[in-house]
Order: sequence, then C-alpha cells, then structure tokens
Amino acid sequence: MDYRRLGTSGLTVSAVGLGCNNLGRESTASESQRGATALVSAAVEAGITLFDTADSYGRTPGLSEELLGKALGRKREDVVIATKFGLDVNGLNGRDFSARGSRRYIMTAVESSLKRLGTDWIDLYQFHAPDPATPIDETLAAMDDLVRAGKVRYIGHSNRSGWSIAEAEFIARHNGGARFISAQNHYNLLNRKVEAEVLPASAAYGIGVLPYFPLANGLLTGKYSSGKAPAGSRLTHSRTNLLATADMDQLRLFGDFARARDVSELEVAFSWLASRPAVASVIAGATRPEQVRQNAVAANWQPSEADLGELDVIFPPAS
Ligand SMILES: NC(=O)c1ccc[n+]([C@@H]2O[C@H](COP(=O)([O-])OP(=O)(O)OC[C@H]3O[C@@H](n4cnc5c(N)ncnc54)[C@H](OP(=O)(O)O)[C@@H]3O)[C@@H](O)[C@H]2O)c1
Repeated sequence: MDYRRLGTSGLTVSAVGLGCNNLGRESTASESQRGATALVSAAVEAGITLFDTADSYGRTPGLSEELLGKALGRKREDVVIATKFGLDVNGLNGRDFSARGSRRYIMTAVESSLKRLGTDWIDLYQFHAPDPATPIDETLAAMDDLVRAGKVRYIGHSNRSGWSIAEAEFIARHNGGARFISAQNHYNLLNRKVEAEVLPASAAYGIGVLPYFPLANGLLTGKYSSGKAPAGSRLTHSRTNLLATADMDQLRLFGDFARARDVSELEVAFSWLASRPAVASVIAGATRPEQVRQNAVAANWQPSEADLGELDVIFPPAS
C-alpha cells in the first residue's frame, strides 16, 4: 500500500481508502455489525488507513458511523476517520431549517457524529454539499472553531464546483483560519466532468481529491459486462437504471483493454484514478472482505502515456 499526503497538508492517507456507505446498507453483507466489522478488519489488515463515512449513510442516518466506530474499536488511533455533515438526515441532528452549513447546525452535528463514532476527534470533517442558505464564511468560521477545540483535525468539502473551491480557499486565507484540504467529488472513467474545473482548482490550491463512485457503483469492475448482474450485487437492488442504461459495448472494450495488458478492469479503474493529478486516495466502497483485499492492491498498475491515450478513446473526457 502506498501512503500519500492529502493535498499539501500533513495528513497522510492510504492511496486506497474504504468508502463506508455500504456499512448498514440494506440487502448487503455489510448491513450488520458482524459484516461491517469483517469488512473494516480486512481493510485495516490490508494497510488501508482512510475510512470515509457520513452522518447520512446507512439504512437509517447515523448507522454507518455507529458501525464503523464499533468495528474499529481500539484500531481507531491508527486510522484516519473522515466523516461528513450537511445532507438531510431526517432530523438526526435536530431541526435544521435547511441551513446545514450554519454554525448552529454544525455545532450539533459534530457532537452527534463524535458520539456515534465513539471517538473524541474526527480526523477529516467534510462539508458534504454546498448550502445555498449560508455564506461559506460562516461555515468556515464554525469549522475553524472545531479544529481549535480539538474535535476535528482537518476540514474538507464535497460536491463543490471549481469557482466555489477557489472562493472558499481565498476566504480561509483572508481570515487566517483552517482551510479545506480535501475535495470529494464524483469521478471515474465514466464520469470525467471534474477534469474541467475541480481538478485544476484543487491542484492549484494544494487540495487533495478523493474521487467518489470510483467504480461507478460496480460497473467498472467487469462484473456487469455481460449485461447481467451477479446475484446480490448493488445494481440488482439499487440504482437498477444504471445497468439498464449502461453502454455495454464500451464496457466490453474496457474489458479488452484490461485483458490486453494482463490486468483486471478493477485494477485499471483504480490505477487510472490514482494516477490523476491531485487525486490522493481512491475511496471505493465494498460489501465483502474479499473485495477489500482485491481493492487494496488494485492501484499498483502504472499506465503508460499510450495506455492513457487509449483510455481517452474508450472513455472520452467531458467536453
Ligand atoms: N461525497 C459524496 O457525495 C459521496 C457520494 C457517493 C459516495 N461517496 C463515498 O464514496 C465511496 C465510494 O462510493 P460507492 O461505494 O458508492 O461506489 P463505488 O466505489 O463506485 O462502487 C462500490 C461497489 O462496487 C462493488 N465492488 C467494490 N469492490 C469490488 C470488487 N473488488 N469486485 C467486485 N465488485 C466490487 C461493490 O458492489 P456490490 O454491492 O455489488 O458488492 C460496491 O458496493 C462511498 O462509500 C462513500 O464513502 C461520497
């Protein structure tokens, strides 16, 4: 496992992380504490140190954080817990008035996450999605206070556009408080929109990118390329439209590309992302320990310039 700095910060994370939105997800092997513990233990054994969750994850909000905290137990001190606030959590953090970037809301949300995770600090506290009702100045000031209080060590954001990443950076610099060190955005071979603005902005400001949906919900693992979904896989029980609308010719070309280089589609999907500028860690979700073990070693293939060019033909950059 490689370990990398998250942007220009001092926080070091494994190049492959574990996305924890399957912890407590209905109809998965990781829905229960037992399944979640098996998954998290396999990840720790494989050298994964970055665990990404959110207060909104789980079949009921908060469940993923609870399962993760219990699964980590004493290993908590050796890992980086990244969690998020800011999506609708059905009143879990009290009445929010749809202003989930407000100081009032953040101060409640952090206490509630700390309790569920069973920890005194959050390594990376991420603002899950922009809140149009609250100026980013207020959100940054509240998050800075959390850092000063020792409840949070670093702060990050998610689902922001390039211009709003620049705006937040300059406000943090102007005010001299904590700055966002990470950007979590949708990014994989099938969805390359962030290459236009988000990646250049992140690279310019030393922000580490954590691509989410790195496997496009499993479509890029090769297991759906026949057009049929393996029993129990995600696209049999959720987001079924993704499989119905997937371009199977494209996925078959992807399979041919991987086979010609004697690697799996999974390895290409991970390694391509890990080789992108500003990307710090690939946080794929998994439902079973054997998937985590495969994923932990899937970012080791080194694509050549020619490989990257061929991938651009199969998966054209967004125009
Ligand atoms: N910030 C945001 O707004 C946001 C949004 C979405 C996700 N995220 C974060 O990003 C993480 C990753 O996203 P994701 O888990 O939804 O999507 P993903 O990584 O694109 O896909 C995960 C799915 O791929 C399958 N998979 C994983 N490893 C596999 C392997 N080795 N072999 C075969 N199949 C494999 C599993 O599906 P099966 O269920 O079929 O086993 C797993 O559920 C999340 O856990 C979360 O932490 C953030």
